[in-house]
Amino acid sequence: MYDFTFDSGQPRGEFYRELADAAAALTEGESDAVANMANIAALLWQALPELNWAGFYRMLDGMLVLGPFCGKPACIRIPLGQGVCGAAAADGRSRLVEDVHAFPGHIACDAASRSELVVPVMADGRVIAVIDLDSPRLARFDAQDRKGMELLAARIAPAIAGKSTG
Ligand code: SME
Repeated sequence: MYDFTFDSGQPRGEFYRELADAAAALTEGESDAVANMANIAALLWQALPELNWAGFYRMLDGMLVLGPFCGKPACIRIPLGQGVCGAAAADGRSRLVEDVHAFPGHIACDAASRSELVVPVMADGRVIAVIDLDSPRLARFDAQDRKGMELLAARIAPAIAGKSTG
């Protein structure tokens, strides 16, 4: 078991640097993408307050397919361009949604979700997965969360692409 402690009172830039360090440490030397996604999902779930879902959708044959996550069981396949995840996967840009009810086509896997942050994971210029964070609180995520999660996604991309790091 790995036990990381995070000070959520520190500046968020520093918090996300520590979180990315922890994710890199968890995946170091391991090339199995499923194991790495599972541990990162558990880490995000533990470290980030006010979440009801944290995990991955993987790009498989031009479609997003559910990957390791923490939270309630979720929809398995999301076509590109559909929902918040499909929008982020289609153009490789993060989506910060303050109110999911105001996002056209939002896919409600958990009725409790009110806000959402989806960040693509890129390898060799292509989207290989997205990280999806859901919160029961309206406007739970802001630009600092988006930036921090984008840094984390870039850092762990090789471990999700099945390349051993370290
Ligand atoms: N809300 C997402 C679907 C995935 S669940 O939130 C886990 C979307 O609109 O793409």
